[in-house]
Amino acid sequence: MVSKMKFVLGFGGASVAALLVAGSGYTMEKPDPKEYPYVPSLLQYEKSAAEFTPPATCGECHPQQYEEWTGSLHALAFKDPIYQGELNKAVKAVGHDIARQCEGCHTPAGVVTGEIKGSGISGLSDVAINGVSCDMCHSVSGHTGWQTPYHQPENGSLILSPGKDTPTGPVLTKFGPYKPKDGCGDGFHACVEQPLHKKAELCANCHQVNHYETHTPIESTYTEWKDSPYGVHGIACQDCHMVDFDTFLRSADTMKKPERGEYRHFFNGANFLIYSLTEQAAKKAGDAELAANVHKKYEMAVARLQAAADLEVSPVYRDKKLAEIKVRVRNIRAGHKLPTSLTNIRQIWLEMTVKDLDGKVIMTTGTVDAKSGALPAEARLFNSDGMGEGFHLSHDPWEIVSFGRQDAIPPKGYKEVYYGVSAPQAKGPLVVDIKLRYRQAEQEIAHTLLGAVPKDMDLAAIYGLTSMPDLPIVDMVSKSVKINPAL
Ligand code: HEC
Ligand code: HEC
Ligand code: HEC
Ligand code: HEC
Ligand code: HEC
Repeated sequence: MVSKMKFVLGFGGASVAALLVAGSGYTMEKPDPKEYPYVPSLLQYEKSAAEFTPPATCGECHPQQYEEWTGSLHALAFKDPIYQGELNKAVKAVGHDIARQCEGCHTPAGVVTGEIKGSGISGLSDVAINGVSCDMCHSVSGHTGWQTPYHQPENGSLILSPGKDTPTGPVLTKFGPYKPKDGCGDGFHACVEQPLHKKAELCANCHQVNHYETHTPIESTYTEWKDSPYGVHGIACQDCHMVDFDTFLRSADTMKKPERGEYRHFFNGANFLIYSLTEQAAKKAGDAELAANVHKKYEMAVARLQAAADLEVSPVYRDKKLAEIKVRVRNIRAGHKLPTSLTNIRQIWLEMTVKDLDGKVIMTTGTVDAKSGALPAEARLFNSDGMGEGFHLSHDPWEIVSFGRQDAIPPKGYKEVYYGVSAPQAKGPLVVDIKLRYRQAEQEIAHTLLGAVPKDMDLAAIYGLTSMPDLPIVDMVSKSVKINPAL
């Protein structure tokens, strides 16, 4: 791999000056391991005798936040079997160093305390196993986004300061969005106001993933958001993901920020698959409370997906005959591309059936194969193709150097698909049944990842999975539209 990527920024005078000084233009420096001891993760840790606190302890005084966070994707970020499978594959493919990058976001405490040595989930502390726990956000004293290769938060560029040493012993410091009241922390922790917690730049440190060596942006939720109408109006990640469903609708539709008391700790997005697996695991373990809790989160994720998009069908006539069906799919409420993050893994596609008046099928597209779960080659997908060196298709973040196809739908934007149809003899009106469908991954990829989990993650014992499951699909939009075969 190249150790330094070079590119020239077009900032007029500034870049000319840089050229004169450096002689070779602006150089994107690799992060300095002296400043970033956990590279390729850009985490920083202000070590003291004050340790990280397990989430259940925070939950004793903050029961509502604890219940909301429990079973969220943040609570599951390390235990997630799809993650564990991919991590295991990464380590086998390129060596153990890359694991620090992954874990810097999926379990930051596990990295900075050095307790994670190899793959697997057993024998880890409460803080490490709980992924993105309370302390991973509330020990954040700042970030170093301005000095990363792209000069913005990415790859875990958080500063974790769980507390400090004082002459009378260690004191825990928790950073939050508000000016602390007297008695804040009940003697358990000190409170510090940190405006970062109201901003997308807190989330950005983990929701902007760049390649561990070349720095190619692989998951760009933050930059997609920043360049969107939501970013411009200051509607932050928190305003849609840290509120209940109705408040999310209001933030997205009116660009009005929620009130102070409306914030919640759901971190709810799209990943209904992990919620349903977790519900299965909770039932198997006899934990009815957790099962009910994640079931609500499952329903919330499905509702968010169904509120995110809309579609419009219109006929295109040529010589007064139906020539094409145009479908416009709009991203109406996702504050970033639809899908975002793992755009090369997530699948959003159109399934359509056109029938004539007698019910005879004139065309179909996007129907999942009942046996293999695969999509037909002609299916129109709104996602992206990740590419490795030499234009080969790749799904793995350590291989991707570019994106060959970018069809995720921009925030408050749309993508159009034209389907050629020829039905000169058909009796009208034609009925077009169309669905916009979502699943977390292609069946085969999910199988590969679940098949690659570390040995101490027994999928049968934890989830009751004895064979590979069919991946569930959520219909984001379903419509039935009538069109005439001729004018
Ligand atoms: C012994 C009880 C207790 C424990 C344990 C506790 N807190 Fe608190 N915390 C409080 C009290 C009391 C407040 C004041 C505000 C309130 O009543 O919610 C507070 C306030 C906060 C605030 C808000 C600060 C602000 O901006 O207003 C944050 C954030 C916070 N705690 C995080 C945590 C985290 C994270 C943990 C676990 C590491 C934790 N707390 C554990 C009692 C506790
Ligand atoms: C900068 C932070 C960051 C880094 C570094 C990172 N991830 Fe992630 N990862 C995320 C976020 C955020 C998501 C959630 C995206 C979503 O759900 O759309 C995620 C999601 C995933 C998922 C999908 C999980 C699921 O249930 O669908 C896998 C698999 C994964 N990461 C593997 C890895 C591996 C392996 C590495 C290291 C090579 C890695 N990640 C590095 C932040 C990171
Ligand atoms: C992914 C980051 C993240 C995690 C994990 C997290 N919080 Fe928060 N928390 C925030 C943000 C951001 C806010 C500010 C929301 C706002 O603007 O009011 C907040 C606000 C708070 C507050 C202030 C009152 C409120 O609810 O708005 C408390 C108390 C709190 N969190 C406790 C916790 C506890 C306890 C946990 C773990 C069970 C936890 N947090 C997990 C990011 C996080
Ligand atoms: C205007 C509301 C809104 C804002 C602002 C917003 N999101 Fe989302 N987000 C959504 C909706 C709706 C979905 C579900 C549809 C989807 O998957 O894109 C979603 C999905 C996600 C997902 C899961 C994507 C997937 O398909 O796996 C992640 C991760 C996410 N958001 C993170 C963020 C982060 C980080 C920010 C801030 C930089 C943010 N969001 C800002 C509405 C919003
Ligand atoms: C320390 C890193 C970290 C921080 C900080 C962080 N996240 Fe996350 N977040 C993750 C990881 C890792 C995942 C994915 C876990 C998985 O899929 O296994 C995730 C998942 C999510 C999801 C669920 C996505 C889905 O597919 O359903 C949402 C929504 C989300 N984060 C929103 C936020 C918001 C809002 C903030 C800021 C207040 C934030 N995150 C801050 C690491 C982080």
